[in-house]
Amino acid sequence: MKRKILIIMLCVGLLHSPLTLSEKADIHIGVMVYNTADTFMMTIVNEIERLSDNNTSLTVLNSANDQNLQAKQMKTLIEKGVDALIINAVDRTSCIYLLKIAKKSDVPVVFINREPLREDMESYNRAYYVGTQPQQQGMLCGEIIADYFLTTPSADKNGDGIIQYVLLKGEEGHQDTYLRSLYCIETLQNKGIKTEQLGSESGDWKKTRGQQIMASFLAEYENNIECVISNNDDMALGAIDALKAAGYFTNGRYMPVVGVDATPPALEAMEDGVLLGTVLNDARLQGAAAIEIATLLARKETIDKEKLIFPMQEDRFIWVPAKKYVKLFNKD
Ligand code: GAL
Repeated sequence: MKRKILIIMLCVGLLHSPLTLSEKADIHIGVMVYNTADTFMMTIVNEIERLSDNNTSLTVLNSANDQNLQAKQMKTLIEKGVDALIINAVDRTSCIYLLKIAKKSDVPVVFINREPLREDMESYNRAYYVGTQPQQQGMLCGEIIADYFLTTPSADKNGDGIIQYVLLKGEEGHQDTYLRSLYCIETLQNKGIKTEQLGSESGDWKKTRGQQIMASFLAEYENNIECVISNNDDMALGAIDALKAAGYFTNGRYMPVVGVDATPPALEAMEDGVLLGTVLNDARLQGAAAIEIATLLARKETIDKEKLIFPMQEDRFIWVPAKKYVKLFNKD
């Protein structure tokens, strides 16, 4: 009979609530998410839940963007007896503290999505990371934009041979923000395309912020913007809303907008012709790789690096590859 035990506490009240782990399960895995309002993160969590085996109990907690809360949640989960933890850190630069807590109790941890600093990871030999390469995602973003501009001469609206773009950045301090942006622009330059950044601002991965920032870019730079580069799809979709409100995507007015994640609403927007393209941040396979390794660790099984869904590198890193999605069309 199928038996799956899930405790999902999407509120932040854990510390005052009687959290107990199911006695029916063989192993207990705690999952902490930096913020359960994040579309992409919840796709990973859903996949972790879907793929966890029937004798595993999963406790999913919302760390509500609060690193101190996350540390407290971690201590509580360990006290209750979890066998392994999957952690989406609130602040990837201060994981050393979480690692100390884990090491003290000898509980294995699998970080996802927010990569801890190398030196912090190396402080504990039962710490692992499952993620994707933002460098590769940035390059693929750059390729989508380059292909579009190289095949659509009218996209250079002012004909100056330079792409004037605005950048919607993810959270400051997040490896994806910095590396996706850097490699996207570098790829354009390597392809001989000149670029000029008109404006850039962090929208913290949120659609509403993407919409607000784009509206203010439109007010400031009017018709000079030739391209919108967004570090994720949610912000790209917010920007598209602002562009629509300003009269784009009707009567032949177009703006190339590129995101990252390939979330279902982004793929729909691409099919509708309002999102030029996006790059896969494979939530399904990152979720699968995370629960695979966490389950093996929780069961104290030997990890055969070559037999995992993705081979483990340097004894602790699992990298899920990216690919680009683009609707092939030429605006001229
Ligand atoms: C990124 C993703 C964003 C957001 C962020 C959270 O990889 O592209 O949409 O989910 O992680 O850390």
